[in-house]
Amino acid sequence: MSIVGKKKILVLHGPNLNLLGKREKDIYGTFTLQALNEIIHREAEKISVTVECFQSNQEGTLIELIHESEGKYQGIIINPGAYTHYSIALRDALAGVEIPAIEVHLSNIHAREEFRRTSIISPVVLGQICGLGPQSYLLAMRALAGEYDIGIPLSTSFFPGPKTVRGIRGAIDVAANNKKEILEATTELLQKIIDENVVAREDISAVIFTLTRDLNAVFPAEAARQLGWTDVPLFCSVEVDVPGALPRCIRVLMLVYTSRKSQNVKHQYLKGATALREDIVTTEEVTS
Ligand code: DQA
Repeated sequence: MSIVGKKKILVLHGPNLNLLGKREKDIYGTFTLQALNEIIHREAEKISVTVECFQSNQEGTLIELIHESEGKYQGIIINPGAYTHYSIALRDALAGVEIPAIEVHLSNIHAREEFRRTSIISPVVLGQICGLGPQSYLLAMRALAGEYDIGIPLSTSFFPGPKTVRGIRGAIDVAANNKKEILEATTELLQKIIDENVVAREDISAVIFTLTRDLNAVFPAEAARQLGWTDVPLFCSVEVDVPGALPRCIRVLMLVYTSRKSQNVKHQYLKGATALREDIVTTEEVTS
């Protein structure tokens, strides 16, 4: 999605970024937050966008700024600081507003300590730019402003718009027909489907399971209940014999309320399980 015309972009700096200039200078450089904001404003002027920058050390303040951004801004650039690595609340806030957001970092978080290599924010934003110092922000701003509009959407997974019910499919091979293996496999599959498609719990309308005859069909529903999905309608049945179908296979059709277009739904096929229908597109990662 590109944004055309003079747009308003919100820049959020997370905790400790007020210490820029005196904090770990070998990593973050010697420029201050004020200097960084000036660079951002200068760039905004050049590309004719309006930008507003805020810094907060408080998770709640950042969350509130995100909530209030709907209708006020057309894009968010966020450096969540250390919240990147553990704030589910910040992630939920970004997932809860329909504004394209880009996560930025001054340092290359993937080249630093192990705990910095995980961002729980990345799955709910358009993308992440890191390691380029202040230029991480500038590139994000140009991208959100549509400066690089080449006729290809910024992201294939971010489609704000009316929500509709879509089916997400998945299947997993189960090691053995026993309760433990079936519960574990079902949980893994359901979790992967919701993680990869960023599905909120309340957006799951129903889940339909089918199991091959060699598996006990009682347990998948139990796995869903154990995940706390007590109010999601579940239906479990035994698969009709399909020639060439894999043995010990659990299949799922999850009906979710989403703004994703059908071509952007990520069906999940795990542990060697494959789609019964050849037209179902899977990603490389999920088939491995
Ligand atoms: C940072 C990287 C984070 O890991 C760290 O906690 C920060 C800054 C960056 O911009 O490189 O505070 O977000």
